[in-house]
Amino acid sequence: MRRLQPQLLIVLTSITVVIIAFIAALETIANEHLSAFRQHHALEIQQIDDAIAMSNNRTAAMRVALADQAAKDTAYEVITNPTAAYTTIDSSTCNISKMHDDPASTLVLVNKKHCLQPLTYAPDELVTVYGALLTSDAAKAFAQLYEAARAAGQPITVTSSYRSFQDQVVTYQYWVGVSGYDGADTYSARPGYSEHQTGLAVDLASPDGCVLSCFGATSQYTWLQANAATYGFIQRYHSGDEATTGYSAEEWHYRYVGREVALDMKDKGIDTLEEYWNLPGGYY
Ligand code: DAL
Ligand code: ZN
Repeated sequence: MRRLQPQLLIVLTSITVVIIAFIAALETIANEHLSAFRQHHALEIQQIDDAIAMSNNRTAAMRVALADQAAKDTAYEVITNPTAAYTTIDSSTCNISKMHDDPASTLVLVNKKHCLQPLTYAPDELVTVYGALLTSDAAKAFAQLYEAARAAGQPITVTSSYRSFQDQVVTYQYWVGVSGYDGADTYSARPGYSEHQTGLAVDLASPDGCVLSCFGATSQYTWLQANAATYGFIQRYHSGDEATTGYSAEEWHYRYVGREVALDMKDKGIDTLEEYWNLPGGYY
């Protein structure tokens, strides 16, 4: 290859330097113009930014409203045709947060805005312990709770634990027969919406037959208030939290959430999983 003459090299370098300087000057001028434009039109720019933010907020609110409506429609479909609903319903529409939504996890949230996915979910393995049919983790913890209660002179018995989707179809329909849909919805979960279907919930009574609302006045209940969290259980539905949980108080219904969460909730004085995880609850 032929070598460039030194003079030619100097000329080419000079042209390059001039071009770079020209571009830099153009950029400075453009920036100055832009800055002057911004200053001159600051108010208009602010107004446009505000309008964009407002529109984004409106879109987000619309998305939430649509998800909420889809969840309501799904919950309605479940009671319109409970035995076939699971074949037509996409359960992601009735579980609106996409968080704490794994039904196999101890940390799952199940309420009227968070159905099970799929609606007919059943745990892989269930274990019976002291009359309770639960997932193996919950069963281990429940055995310890049961034994500790007995040792403290506060024996408990089990009235209900795991219930399948089909069990819940029957249970919910029974209560609809007793109280109508509106009444049943205050204390009985629709199929696919019950914590009992996860194998993490257990209903307790005293051995002398004090069940349901009677249980809240027993010494066993007082003992559970002080000790259930040590074994990873919480009373799921407290009086005063109806608007948050979507259900009337149930002094007998205990949910396994694991020792860490149960003790942390107790320390912080938080009664509901909805508040603890800052996720929506309330009515369908
Ligand atoms: N009684 C509770 C809410 C259930 O049916 O799961
Ligand atoms: Zn229950």
